[in-house]
Amino acid sequence: MATLTVNIRKARYGDIPALHRVERVSFTEHYPMSFMEEIYMTHPNSFLVAELDGVIVGYVIAVLRTPSVGHILSVAVAPPYRRRGIGRMLVEAAVEDLWKRGASKVQLEVRVSNRPARSLYRSLGFKTTGIIPAYYRDGESAYTMVRHLPPPRKNLAYTHPNYLGNNTNT
Ligand SMILES: CC(C)(COP(=O)(O)OP(=O)(O)OC[C@H]1O[C@@H](n2cnc3c(N)ncnc32)[C@H](O)[C@@H]1OP(=O)(O)O)[C@@H](O)C(=O)NCCC(=O)NCCS
Repeated sequence: MATLTVNIRKARYGDIPALHRVERVSFTEHYPMSFMEEIYMTHPNSFLVAELDGVIVGYVIAVLRTPSVGHILSVAVAPPYRRRGIGRMLVEAAVEDLWKRGASKVQLEVRVSNRPARSLYRSLGFKTTGIIPAYYRDGESAYTMVRHLPPPRKNLAYTHPNYLGNNTNT
């Protein structure tokens, strides 16, 4: 496969329409763009985007619920760019960012039928902790998943020090 140079960076407010386009083609139940704008206004540091040749091809929204609990609200990669490691980079970068901001654990919900996402999260150390019946509007249940993080230590690189910079994924 050709070498991809993916840049994971904090989102700017002006990125929201592009990010929302990725959201539209990735989910059956959507966040309205106004909702994304609202989250951005209240949690401006919580959005990361994946850029490929200057084009936004993925995003993750991960907020601090409490000073020590992070929550991944949404992650998506545009269909043509899937299975190239970009989703993994985004979730890793979000977890690293939450850890740097003080999180000792990160939680999320995922559709029980969403095998790709469940497999991604499992491969990144998330464990299934429960099920929320009829969590989604269409009646589907969600698994809750949690990853516990190590205590912060000075001068200790956490995962991939290149995240939030330029990444090369072959
Ligand atoms: C889930 C999603 C973000 C993964 O993005 P991606 O860039 O394709 O993921 P990656 O290429 O980084 O894959 C990482 C791992 O995820 C798992 N995975 C990803 N796609 C998969 C698929 N179609 N089937 C099975 N496992 C899959 C694998 O474990 C994979 O590791 P591997 O390539 O070593 O086998 C993407 O499929 C997506 O946007 N889906 C729609 C939105 C969504 O469901 N978001 C999650 C909501 S909870």
